[in-house]
Amino acid sequence: YTAELDLSDIGKGTYPYYMLKEIDEQPAVLRRILQHYYVDGQYKIDEEILKAIQQADRLYIVAAGTSYHAGFASKAFFEEMTKTPVELCIASEFGYNMPLLSEKPLFIYISQSGETADSRQVLVKTKALGYPALTITNVAGSTLSREADYTLSLHAGPEIAVASTKAYTAQISVMAVLAKAVGDYIGNIAASEFHLVKELSLVATSMVAVLAEKERIAEKVEEHLKGTRNSFYIGRGEDYYVSMEAALKLKEISYIQCEGFAAGELKHGTIALIEENTPVQAILSHKALAPHTRGNIMEVISRGAKVLTVVSDDLANEDDDIIVPSVHPYLTSLAMVVPTQMIAYYATLQRGLDVDKPRNLAKSVTVE
Ligand code: G6P
Repeated sequence: YTAELDLSDIGKGTYPYYMLKEIDEQPAVLRRILQHYYVDGQYKIDEEILKAIQQADRLYIVAAGTSYHAGFASKAFFEEMTKTPVELCIASEFGYNMPLLSEKPLFIYISQSGETADSRQVLVKTKALGYPALTITNVAGSTLSREADYTLSLHAGPEIAVASTKAYTAQISVMAVLAKAVGDYIGNIAASEFHLVKELSLVATSMVAVLAEKERIAEKVEEHLKGTRNSFYIGRGEDYYVSMEAALKLKEISYIQCEGFAAGELKHGTIALIEENTPVQAILSHKALAPHTRGNIMEVISRGAKVLTVVSDDLANEDDDIIVPSVHPYLTSLAMVVPTQMIAYYATLQRGLDVDKPRNLAKSVTVE
């Protein structure tokens, strides 16, 4: 398995940290995914895989950490395109907290490394039960990839920083390709109207614009998170899923305690933690939901919070902090997550910590 290991992928080049390099690589990774999976005007996914998904009555995504969050970000478009319900399972919980399975389940294992022991343990179990498995991984030939019936590669290139960035966006992108291919295969009109190649290219362009704002974002982060011990991300819908990933990113490398919350749920308890100067980061990319999230922003401000907004340009006003060129509603997670990766990166840098090697964490966890 020596495929596509470009040596330039392995060094840091002029970058101070791998994480920043990997954040920057994301538009190129999206384009690379399209090159691999869209050939001569066709989506290139084995018919076996399309059939397996068509035949399933429910899809169970099993994953850990950032890969689990990528599963959430893919759920809505995957259900819409494939017309099959998607359930998310935390790998480490599955063994003793197994959901009631449908008659014809298909398991999708999402894993950057393909080596996560928690996920492998579930794969062994579902294989023994006779259920088909598809692994989506960045490492061809990895354990999860070898042991599943089918496998799809992320083509993200080696990810070295412990905090996962380009693997997350690659996972969502490959899930989008798969969803679109299945949708076309089953003749779903919603799929034929979803021009994925064009929409992913627009995402890449949106990412490039945000990546060009590094200095400004670094300044905002300094102002907003300096000296804090805790903070919150809030959002609704897809923005809630991004909030979960954004919070994980921030806490794992900067050690700022952070929770990603469904904006409307905050008032049911957690708002008690908001006090004078508690930093809250709000994500807004969904037109119908934004007014509600704006309401939640007012709620936390009136309790003393300081708010940093990450907003898609079609919903932005002049007081917003980080503006993201808007993309197709299915793909907002891809665009909105990029500034949150930069927030985590700069918060960590400003604290003088090692961005690439946070304490207590490993890139790939091969114990249960
Ligand atoms: C570890 C890493 C996380 C990663 C998770 C799942 O905890 O520190 O960044 O998201 O494992 O890894 P996987 O390789 O299965 O995606």
